[in-house]
Amino acid sequence: TILVDNMLIKGTAGGPDPSIELSLKDNVDYWVILDPISQRLYLNSTGRILDRDPPMSIQSIVVQVQCVNKKVGTIINHEVRIVVRDRNDNSPRFQQQRYHVAVNE
Ligand SMILES: *[C@@H]1O[C@H](CO)[C@@H](O)[C@H](O)[C@H]1NC(C)=O
Repeated sequence: TILVDNMLIKGTAGGPDPSIELSLKDNVDYWVILDPISQRLYLNSTGRILDRDPPMSIQSIVVQVQCVNKKVGTIINHEVRIVVRDRNDNSPRFQQQRYHVAVNE
């Protein structure tokens, strides 16, 4: 799953003459994958499912994209905050097979 299609950071990483170097910091549990050349961020859900509900209860993922300017050596950290929204992904469960109610006309 693509999280960010293009971070639009000025400069090029990779290639014969890269002007910037991109890396991820604070990537807890490796939830985010960075492709520095396309400046794209992916969700790493290999072998697991990201779930906002318990027991996982992940409501947000925060990573830093570190950008090193290779010409002048400056370092800038861009914070990326991914909000995990709630979705009704649980089937309804009923306690009884049948329910009876009386409703006035
Ligand atoms: C993806 O996450 C798993 C943990 O579930 C980790 O072992 C793996 O190294 C991660 N992959 C990348 C490319 O970060």
